[in-house]
Amino acid sequence: MKIRFISDIHYTDPRLLSESQAKAHDFYVKFVLDQLFSKPADLYISMGDLINTGSELEIKNAYAWIAEHPEAAAKFHHLSGNHDLLLYDRSEWPDTYYKGNYFQSFAGFHILYLETSRIKNRANYGGYISAETISWVADTIEQTGDQPLLVFAHHPLKNTSRISWRKMMYVDEDCNLEAVLAKKKGTAFYVSAHNHCDSILHSGQWTYLQSACELEYPAIKNIEIDARQLSFYYEDLETPELSAARAEFITNIPDFSPFGSPAKGSILERQLYRKFSTK
Ligand SMILES: [Fe+2]
Ligand SMILES: [Fe+2]
Repeated sequence: MKIRFISDIHYTDPRLLSESQAKAHDFYVKFVLDQLFSKPADLYISMGDLINTGSELEIKNAYAWIAEHPEAAAKFHHLSGNHDLLLYDRSEWPDTYYKGNYFQSFAGFHILYLETSRIKNRANYGGYISAETISWVADTIEQTGDQPLLVFAHHPLKNTSRISWRKMMYVDEDCNLEAVLAKKKGTAFYVSAHNHCDSILHSGQWTYLQSACELEYPAIKNIEIDARQLSFYYEDLETPELSAARAEFITNIPDFSPFGSPAKGSILERQLYRKFSTK
């Protein structure tokens, strides 16, 4: 199975930028979206914060650009980031591309999609999972036995990725996600975004992959997984044209502080190959 994904593109309402900033920003965001859908895959994901202030125009423009790729868009899943839900909850969005919490089993491996973002909460941008959802995650993980599991979520678990120890840069500890993940037998991967920088950390049976913000460094991330192996690799999109466009708008995006130092990880933080042990 081949998965292509992006994270934290923070598409911003053009009315909040100057004309030249908005032109450069629209060009940059549309370019990254076009690249996401430019190669075949079984699944395309936005890992959250597809939009920035949550406005209707942001939703409308971003979804219109995605809809220009109808074949790929039919396989697109928009996980919610905290910025996506600042003004509207998902029941108020167009119902395309959003699938909520769900689980898929394939021959010899499994994928779980987990919503972690608070709704209409500007003050608390940390991750939250309800007790009901956590109990579903626990039951689902148990069903996977010792077969490989891949989890996609906007927020990381605390202390599993770069800066995930900082305030609101992880799923609240009292949601008990850590205890639930600890019960997983066999190899598992947790893919997150939100913190705007690349990192990979191995801890016990889990490998934590965190993906940097597209607005700071443009890249398409790819995962190929089957019952025998997982391969994670990075498609660098940076060009002089994109870099110039970014310089035009990056310091003018509201409610957005560039990670800066730098978001793009080292080679060891953005590619991985793991062969699963087969009995
Ligand atoms: Fe973000
Ligand atoms: Fe976020």
